[in-house]
Amino acid sequence: MAVTQQRAEGVAVITGAASGMGEAAARLMAEAGWPLLICDLNVDALALAAERLGASGPVETLAGDISGTDYPDRLAAALGDRPVGALIHCAALSPTMAGPERILEVNLAAVMRLVDTVRPRMSSGAAAVLFASKAGHRLGPALDAPISQATTPEAVASLLAHAPESGAAYGISKRGVHLLVRREAGAFGRRGARIVSVSPTIIDTPMGRAEMQKYPVMQAIIDGSALSRLAQAEEVASVAVFLCSPAASYVTGTDILVDGGTADGNLALAS
Ligand SMILES: NC(=O)c1ccc[n+]([C@@H]2O[C@H](COP(=O)([O-])OP(=O)(O)OC[C@H]3O[C@@H](n4cnc5c(N)ncnc54)[C@H](O)[C@@H]3O)[C@@H](O)[C@H]2O)c1
Repeated sequence: MAVTQQRAEGVAVITGAASGMGEAAARLMAEAGWPLLICDLNVDALALAAERLGASGPVETLAGDISGTDYPDRLAAALGDRPVGALIHCAALSPTMAGPERILEVNLAAVMRLVDTVRPRMSSGAAAVLFASKAGHRLGPALDAPISQATTPEAVASLLAHAPESGAAYGISKRGVHLLVRREAGAFGRRGARIVSVSPTIIDTPMGRAEMQKYPVMQAIIDGSALSRLAQAEEVASVAVFLCSPAASYVTGTDILVDGGTADGNLALAS
């Protein structure tokens, strides 16, 4: 079968596009010529992002909470009958931002609903890139059995039994994204589409800076990494953009670690 070098047909949906890696991904996707539907909870920052991006091409916005039960319908209405050519899903909460229940709801249950909404709309050659985290790798397979059983948004709350605090909930939610991608690859493949997760370590974004302030030991992780420096949002966003391109046409059902060569060690951290 000939592999197309053409970009997939349709809109690029980017969540968390008002800040950090989502904002960087939106900028790079606009520069690559994608029509954008950018999404975020922060109404004012989203409007400003749209204004900046508007110079590069068509940009629509969808403001709102991705964990709202009406969100799938709102997203479907915003898309209309247009296919989705790419999804870069960045919106999430880190451990300093919320309690365990809210973290599981936004970082995992809402992701399941988002995937259910876009899957039937993915065009041939399209890709969904879900932001996970190195924290999901640090957790390892210890809780894979209960996480794998929680395959519906309603079942995600059962994982609270394993998440006494926000850091644990964050790691579980991101491990859940790794497992979701593996589980969904076949269904996406039957549409000629792909689904991948990306796992950054600590990155220089508002979220990364908030975590570093609360957990100063993160500086030691950065210093001990192979590249020994903090990464910029664009350095991860560019990987997501590559994964949405035809150059990544055989990458699916897996996680791509973007961590500057960070040692795993024993660090039960929340990055
Ligand atoms: N920054 C890091 O150090 C780091 C490390 C590992 C993984 N990650 C992951 O990378 C992704 C992007 O992180 P970032 O650092 O760019 O974050 P960020 O906090 O800078 O931006 C996240 C954006 O998501 C939006 N958002 C949050 N909750 C939302 C909701 N319920 N509905 C809609 N929008 C919502 C926020 O308003 C914000 O604009 C996240 O999935 C995060 O977990 C980040």
